[in-house]
Amino acid sequence: MIAPETIREVTDRIDIVDVVGEFVKLRRRGSNYLGLCPFHGEKTPSFNVSQSKGIFKCFGCGKSGNAITFVMEHEKYSYVEAIKWLARRYGIAVEETAMSEEAREHMQAAESLYIINGFAQKFFHEQLLGTEEGEQIALSYLKERGFNRPIIEKFGLGYNPDSPDIFAQAAVKNQYSRDVLMKTGLVRSYQDRLQDNYRGRIIFPIHNNSGKVIGFGARIIGKKDKAPKYINTPENEIYIKSRILYGSYFARHTIDKENECLLVEGYTDVLGLAQAGIENVVASGGTSLTIEQLRLIKKYTQNLTIIYDGDKAGVKAALRGLDMALEEGLNVRLVLIPDGEDPDSYVRQLGADQFKEFIQKNKKDFILFQLEILMKDAGTDITKKNDAVNRIAESLSKISKAEDFTKQQEYIRQCSDVLKIDEHGLTNLVNKYRRDNLSKLEKKHHQGKSATEIDSAAPPDIETPAAEQEIATLDTGNIQERNLLRVLLEFGLKPWKDNWTIADYIFDEIQGFPFEHQDNEKLLEYYRRSYNEGSNPNTASFQYIEDKEMQELVVAITLTPYEISRRWDEKIPGKKSDSIVDRDVSKQDAQNSVIYFKLRKIKQMLEITQKEIMEADDFEDQIKQLHIQKHLKQEEKNLTDQLGTVIFK
Ligand code: UTP
Ligand code: MN
Repeated sequence: MIAPETIREVTDRIDIVDVVGEFVKLRRRGSNYLGLCPFHGEKTPSFNVSQSKGIFKCFGCGKSGNAITFVMEHEKYSYVEAIKWLARRYGIAVEETAMSEEAREHMQAAESLYIINGFAQKFFHEQLLGTEEGEQIALSYLKERGFNRPIIEKFGLGYNPDSPDIFAQAAVKNQYSRDVLMKTGLVRSYQDRLQDNYRGRIIFPIHNNSGKVIGFGARIIGKKDKAPKYINTPENEIYIKSRILYGSYFARHTIDKENECLLVEGYTDVLGLAQAGIENVVASGGTSLTIEQLRLIKKYTQNLTIIYDGDKAGVKAALRGLDMALEEGLNVRLVLIPDGEDPDSYVRQLGADQFKEFIQKNKKDFILFQLEILMKDAGTDITKKNDAVNRIAESLSKISKAEDFTKQQEYIRQCSDVLKIDEHGLTNLVNKYRRDNLSKLEKKHHQGKSATEIDSAAPPDIETPAAEQEIATLDTGNIQERNLLRVLLEFGLKPWKDNWTIADYIFDEIQGFPFEHQDNEKLLEYYRRSYNEGSNPNTASFQYIEDKEMQELVVAITLTPYEISRRWDEKIPGKKSDSIVDRDVSKQDAQNSVIYFKLRKIKQMLEITQKEIMEADDFEDQIKQLHIQKHLKQEEKNLTDQLGTVIFK
């Protein structure tokens, strides 16, 4: 038996694209990833994976599920084996009774690290708040910098006293293993004795997303020229630097709620902003972003706002890795803090409201920002200018085009404007880079199609035979019902207006119109119950319920070929550059789904009325039915007129 805690930790950490990507070559297509189905032989990819929803579905053979069922199917594992495999992959300790030697060792190593780190965090925290040295040296320093007690407690800050081995002794007294202690980096060995490594330093514990302490940053107090400002935990089983986002444990819910993640450089920036009530903040730790960090962010939001100090070197370094973010489909924006300040000092200077306003006003789209910097650098140098154009075109080619085609077009328009070059020419250049990217990919794995076929700038061809089949098996009523369910699952919890959520709006609108399909009705009730209980249902939350039928229905509903074509139809309202990334279609989508649902109902009623008119045996009855028909037709027209015309602010 595996402990439920472990299963939760695993399901929290899973990235389905990551997992499936081990076995299937996936490429982004639309909002999903596409590859050749590993469960049946095919030449044209119809195997879809949705990262945000954590599910896969093959439109060819119909197989679907989540990351766990994928590993089970593909590796022919039992549920327990699949969980174990995933846990190992993500370095999560599995709590269970019987396991392999190797797994046990890893688990034990990780587990004992967690335990010592937990102990150390409490110890340092106690030293900071409960001892004279802590108060006088460390706490007073933190207070002087403006950090208040609640924030110090929330983030669990601590202090390692300035003596040779006060922590080491406490740890040894607790009989922690010497080897594991060394691995934590908290101590070092000196003439065969253990000594404290972070003497006289403020301790910033670093938490993983389930709140366990995986490592520490230890800051020197004040300024000392020789010693490094921060000492960080060395890599070990649980501290893997490339995957760490400081503060994510405390920020994740707000990131989700605000649908935006602010990224700063330092520990103290996270604290400073959190103290000002800006809680959707994480820190990268001063190095350039890794793909793993970007993927962690993407689990919560597509919108990343990077807040950096204004010095030029830092900015250039930051820009370097960001094409990766484009490939990941993130909307990246940048804000520079005025020279000489950092987010922590600046928020203190401006206050929370003005700081937020500053961010809103000054955040620049990454591409346009990059363009600006390159152009400034180039000055009048033609060669450099040429390089800049190529560099931008290359960045633009990384935007996954099916999903973000309109976005790419808009960028091309804006960039050609700034560069004062022909829009058509830039489009061609972008296409050239895109073809290059693709042929590189092509070489890596043999796709059935030619590069140009896949690469055409037209909407993705969703009319594969498999997709057609699926359409044929869905009668119209089913489509409208499922569309409503899809909106509920995707956007149900988002605001409608006043205090209403989109779910409230939909429930209100469809009152008195029962669903015709039993399974849809069942899911609707499932959703309604969960919603009324306040347990925030969404696609992900349905992935681990027991009812397998419901789970599959959720997959079928939220991952369909229509999704791609639907996205395709979206137009960008307005021309502000922000609108490229800020467009929120949830309300429009909700309203349309209600209208389509009602139109279907009206059509049915019209059919019945028509029949009644034909069959009516007295004139009066016929007149009555004709009246009803007229009324219904008027209603039908009203609804049709509303379709897609309402744009919410
Ligand atoms: P900063 O020098 O900006 O530090 O480095 P800070 O966090 O803002 O601290 P204060 O405000 O000066 O007290 C940014 C981040 O880079 C990493 C740390 O993660 C730090 O938070 N860093 C910096 C190190 O790992 N080692 C160092 O020596 C310096
Ligand atoms: Mn700082």
